[in-house]
Amino acid sequence: MHTVGFIHSKGGVGKTTLAIMIALSLEHAGFQVELLDSDPQGSATRWSERAEDVGTPLPFDVRSAPSARSLRAAVSSASADIAVIDTPPGTPEVLDAAVDLVDLALIPSGASPMDIDRVWPTMQLLAHRPTAVVLNAIDARESVSSVAREVLESEGIPVAEATIPMRASARRAFGTIPDVAEHYRALAKEVLEALH
Ligand SMILES: Nc1ncnc2c1ncn2[C@@H]1O[C@H](COP(=O)(O)OP(=O)(O)O)[C@@H](O)[C@H]1O
Ligand SMILES: [Mg+2]
Repeated sequence: MHTVGFIHSKGGVGKTTLAIMIALSLEHAGFQVELLDSDPQGSATRWSERAEDVGTPLPFDVRSAPSARSLRAAVSSASADIAVIDTPPGTPEVLDAAVDLVDLALIPSGASPMDIDRVWPTMQLLAHRPTAVVLNAIDARESVSSVAREVLESEGIPVAEATIPMRASARRAFGTIPDVAEHYRALAKEVLEALH
């Protein structure tokens, strides 16, 4: 089994949305997927419960594992091909556990200089894990995303080829089985290449 985690020391960067979209993309690509929700706020779990309540359950299990210990147990008992891990912001114990457990860590980030500045503490947390930044919720009119890519890459930090645009559809996706846009599929393909 492979594990991919969405990690950032801050909230609101798109971890949960990306975790769901990538889990769906991987499922569509024919893999058996489990999403492990290590955020005590349980956004991914609530997404899944809500989708079930309205009669359109997500096509993969979302398991709540809101502590370092329960996350380790969930990973060791996972039976899927790929476990996608969603993490909470600023809970060092859980983040450290997630960092230890993932084969690949993805750091979602906006592209503004302030967003990029917020990536460094998470990079330190990740030590030497295979890592890539995912530029997320990018306004197509912003030229900062190519600057962000250059800044990160000049510091030796890989940036996923796929850039995720800002979309109202991503905001509305909570509690549904969203159509998975091409940019998420492209990111999932990169994830698979990195894992194999
Ligand atoms: N590509 C996107 N375009 C627009 N809004 C997005 C996008 N991805 C996420 N969002 C929105 O950004 C906010 C934070 O996303 P969320 O996935 O909850 O981040 P986190 O899990 O890091 O806190 C939510 O309101 C979500 O709907
Ligand atoms: Mg979240």
